[in-house]
Amino acid sequence: MAEARAQAGGLVGLVPTMGFLHEGHLSLMERAVAECDQTMATLYVNPLQFEDPADLARYPSDPDRDLALAEACGVDLMVVPGPEEMFPSRPLTGVTVAGIGERLEGEFRPGHMDGVATVVTRLLAGLQPHRAYFGRKDAQQLALIARLVQDLGFPVEVVGCPLVREVDGLALSSRNVLLGARRAEALALSIGLMLAADRFDRGERRATVLEAAVRSAVPEDALEYVRLCEAATMTPATIAEGETVLVAAARFGSVRIIDNVHLVADHHGASADRGVRLGRPSLLYGSEGTMTAREQAMEPPGGAA
Ligand code: PAJ
Repeated sequence: MAEARAQAGGLVGLVPTMGFLHEGHLSLMERAVAECDQTMATLYVNPLQFEDPADLARYPSDPDRDLALAEACGVDLMVVPGPEEMFPSRPLTGVTVAGIGERLEGEFRPGHMDGVATVVTRLLAGLQPHRAYFGRKDAQQLALIARLVQDLGFPVEVVGCPLVREVDGLALSSRNVLLGARRAEALALSIGLMLAADRFDRGERRATVLEAAVRSAVPEDALEYVRLCEAATMTPATIAEGETVLVAAARFGSVRIIDNVHLVADHHGASADRGVRLGRPSLLYGSEGTMTAREQAMEPPGGAA
């Protein structure tokens, strides 16, 4: 990482990832490339954030494909640190963001949020980017990182980027390839969130009603949580006023997925941000080589050949 930092010049952008790249990751990389003089991306499957060793063991990986995709996006440097470079010995220092890191994902995946906070701190310290790009797909992670950067005074601008969805609305995630036959069931989570966003658009502001819209679509035994939260602090909200996010997590078989819609209601008006949808099947499923997220989004639904 020291070498990567030494090579970098001008305004440096960073896109941290755990690899097995899809159009969600690529959209972050494209944005960084467009806005920065040099873009670094990292590929590191961070054991500190996996509370379940089985989940870590089967996390999908294809580093050669990742390198080709990142390069095609214009990423200048792909940093792939080994475990001994990241943490030469098991770190005694951990980063905890009180409150934000303890709720929701923190509750259902004990230690996960601290693992994210610690590794992101390590990457920011090692690579010292001017800007760091994160997806709104992981709304709680984005809030956590924005707060840790503020609290610890890292001289970096945290940039939140739109959530990218597959053609049918499922939020893109590297884990989607593990869903297999349960993919159709898993779609219920995004369907429920879209129902809630529709209700919000029609004027509904009560958390109980918005949450119930998600519950109506997702089988009770699959849903781990659905909660309306203040976007910056992830504290529960009873009314969707200001900037809130309706976050949800569900488990289909052994695969856990998370998703959200971002809601804004203020004196300028109201809008539900459902993210952006691809116009053709994701490259996760091996279809489209190196076509970028932006190119895909421009295709009409159903896609040209
Ligand atoms: P990973 O899941 O690989 O995601 C890397 C980045 O891509 C994160 O900022 C995530 O929010 C973003 N991303 C993932 N899916 C997305 C989607 N569908 N739309 C938009 N952005 C999406 O998140 C992590 O890795 C790790 O926790 C990490 C930050 C790298 C720390 O280990």
